[in-house]
Amino acid sequence: MPVTVVYPGTFDPITNGHMDIVRRAHRLFDRVLVAVAANPTKRPTFTLDERVDMACQALQGFERVEVCGFDGLLADFAAAHGSRVLLRGLRAVSDFEHEFQLASMNRHLAPDLETVFLTPAEEYSYVSSSLVREVAALGGDVSHFVADSVEAALRARLG
Ligand code: COA
Repeated sequence: MPVTVVYPGTFDPITNGHMDIVRRAHRLFDRVLVAVAANPTKRPTFTLDERVDMACQALQGFERVEVCGFDGLLADFAAAHGSRVLLRGLRAVSDFEHEFQLASMNRHLAPDLETVFLTPAEEYSYVSSSLVREVAALGGDVSHFVADSVEAALRARLG
């Protein structure tokens, strides 16, 4: 049976680090569903639609990758899309505690839902969306960290 993995995040914006994780998952699973969370508590710079659009453009070349926005429980989103596997990236040991909490809560909410972890290439181990936004807002070069389309969106929004 084809296995769909759900890769959730705020993706404000999607970075090459996220894309590196998607690339690795693409080799392992039949379908990768990138789930862009509305996540209003994080007060994202880009709207949900903008974040979905940016992820779609950045991931254009991948045949079995889809992007979808959601506003609700991740466990419900996964069930609605017929997936029993969540994917999260682990950049460093410091990510582990938060990820362990999320995985445990999701397991409590949906006991059949498993979380798997992949690590991005070392060159992205220190990248985060907020750091990329900060560097872009201050006029720094973020071309190594985001797709061209995302860089253009950052420039248009943050100057
Ligand atoms: N490359 C680059 N950056 C990465 C990365 C990678 N491979 N992996 C993680 N990050 C960064 C992100 O850019 C983000 O940076 P930022 O904080 O500077 O924006 C940070 O790590 C983690 O953010 P994100 O991946 O968006 O996760 P999150 O912890 O903010 O949110 C959700 C996680 C969206 C999965 C969670 O909030 C959720 O499930 N929401 C739905 C509601 C729900 O079900 N809640 C209960 C959950 S148990």
